[in-house]
This record gives sequence, structure tokens and C-alpha cells, in this order.
Amino acid sequence: MSRRVVATASPSLALVKYWGKAPGGVNLPATSNLAVGLHALRTETTVSLALDDMTEDTVTINGARQKIEAYLPVLDEFRKASGSEARFAVESTNSFPTGAGIASSSSGFAALAVALDALLGTGLSPEKRSVLARLGSGSASRAVYGGFTTWERGSEYATAFLPGDHWPQLRIVVAVLSEARKPIGSRTAMERSRETSPMYPAWVETSQQRYADARAAVLERDLEQLGTVMRASYLAMFSTMFTANPPYIYWLPQSVALIHELERARSRGTAAWETMDAGPQVKIVTIASELDEVRRLVSETVPDARIITTAVGGEPSVAVHDSSEA
Ligand code: DP6
Repeated sequence: MSRRVVATASPSLALVKYWGKAPGGVNLPATSNLAVGLHALRTETTVSLALDDMTEDTVTINGARQKIEAYLPVLDEFRKASGSEARFAVESTNSFPTGAGIASSSSGFAALAVALDALLGTGLSPEKRSVLARLGSGSASRAVYGGFTTWERGSEYATAFLPGDHWPQLRIVVAVLSEARKPIGSRTAMERSRETSPMYPAWVETSQQRYADARAAVLERDLEQLGTVMRASYLAMFSTMFTANPPYIYWLPQSVALIHELERARSRGTAAWETMDAGPQVKIVTIASELDEVRRLVSETVPDARIITTAVGGEPSVAVHDSSEA
């Protein structure tokens, strides 16, 4: 009998960012962070045991073979946890642009951890799945839950803070301004910021207050407070990139145009605040009743932008398929 497991997970968008690693472990956050699962965006990952004559693990994303090194920490930990020497065949597809600053590594490693747990029958606790997903990519520690998640500085695992339906009206509009793969990944950029930016210590020092404010804003469903602290977080994060050596600027002219347009919209009373990650895309947090206005504003400012709209959610799913063929 052969077993195949299909797991899905959604990318984790940080409203208050993880940027910079704490010493003493792999991908431990220097700053407490808070994120939401992007319900409408999915990574689907199929994992099966490699055929007997295969001696190595294989991973493909959207059909393209990946270098295995990035995956081994997670695959090896699952081998250890299950006492197995098995090799895995992993095939992953994304319903959204890969490696362009939409956190495909968060959903990818979360789906992988959920799939391996089911394939091997390890029955890990949610926290332990978060720990193992984190070994692949820090933000994946949050994506194993969906909904609203928190991840405290120095912690080995993220926590499910509130389910997505805590704030049913909340929406995220992702303005995809470029589908190109980014030349420098978030891992390199955050290390460079930590090592060389004179702003980095201030970023870390001020982040704890932003985290506390964001938690309170989410609990109270206070969009204006959340929007304000969200902006403060991403702008402070980028200040460490702008002042790194060498500096790195992910922003495109269209990103800046949208930031300005949103400022104008807020002064007219539109409830919409943006955030950005290690890429040019602008993610706008708003409420359902403002969606038409926000989408209009995006397509007028950047006519060729791809617009993805989503609620908060994205809890992983898993399905086990057993077949009697060899
Ligand atoms: C800007 O989780 O991709 O998206 O732990 O090195 O894999 P590694 O980094 P990664 O960084 C995410 C950075 C961010 C902010 C966030 O998601 O919190």
C-alpha cells in the first residue's frame, strides 16, 4: 500500500513584523510579531514516501525542482521524530506568485509540516508542528494555525491568538505590483539589517510596544489603531533596510504611489492602511464595506496591478489518500 498526504496552508501576513533573529537557535524572532492568515491564498503540498530505489528527498514548487538544503532541517527533524529513515517526495503548488514577497515560504513550510505529521503519524501537538515548520522559515511557525497569530520574541513556536472569524469584516487587499522573483530574499535582507544597520537596535527596542498595541487593537477590533501601528511597524522595519550596508530598497515607484494614494484616501475618511514585506507588493488592511473603494483606488493608481482580496483565515487542511497499488 502507498500513502499520499495532501495538505494546504495559507501565507501568514505580519501586521507587526518579525525582522531579525535572536541568538541561541534557528529562526528565533528578535521582535514579537502578530500576523493574519490570508484565507484566499493557498499552498497545496503533496508528500509521499519516495520509491524504494530513490535515495534522496525531492521537492518541487510549481513543478520546478528545488535545492534540497533549505528543506533538510524540517525533513530531518521529522525523520528523527518518527524514528524513520524514509525519503520523501514533496510536490508543492502556490495559487499566488512565489518568492515575490507574499510569504510563500510561510505557507510552504507550514503545509509541509502538517503533511509530514499526517504521513508519518507522528501526532505532534500544534506547538511542536509550529517548532518544526519554523526550522524551514520563521514565519511558517505562524502559518501552521491560520487566523490571528502571535509569536513572541525568542520563542520557539507561535501561538494561535484568535480565530479568523473574531473579526469577520476585516479584509486584506494584496496589490501585486510585480510578479518577478525578488533578487534578495527576506533571510539575507534581515541578516544584513541586523548586522549592519545603525537603526536595528532601535527597531528591536521599539517593537515590543508596537506588538502590545497591535494585540490590543485586534482584541478590540479597532482598525484605526491597528492600521496606525501596522504602518509604524513596516516603516520602522524598512528603515533598517534603507540604512543597512549595502542598503536594499524593495519598493517600486508604484509601491510609493499607492502609499501616497492611501494617505489621501484616509484623509477623505477611507479606513485602509497598508503594510509591506520583503518585496514591492502593497497589502492593504481594510473592512468589507470599503473594498470597492480600495480596489478602485489600486487599479486607478496602478492599472496593471493584480488584485487579490481575502478575509482572515487560512487554517491548514490535510487529507490522507491510501492506495493499494505499489
Ligand atoms: C518581512 O520568515 O521569510 O515577511 O525565518 O529567515 O525564513 P526566515 O525569514 P522569513 O521572514 C519574514 C519576514 C517578513 C515579516 C514577517 O513575516 O513577519
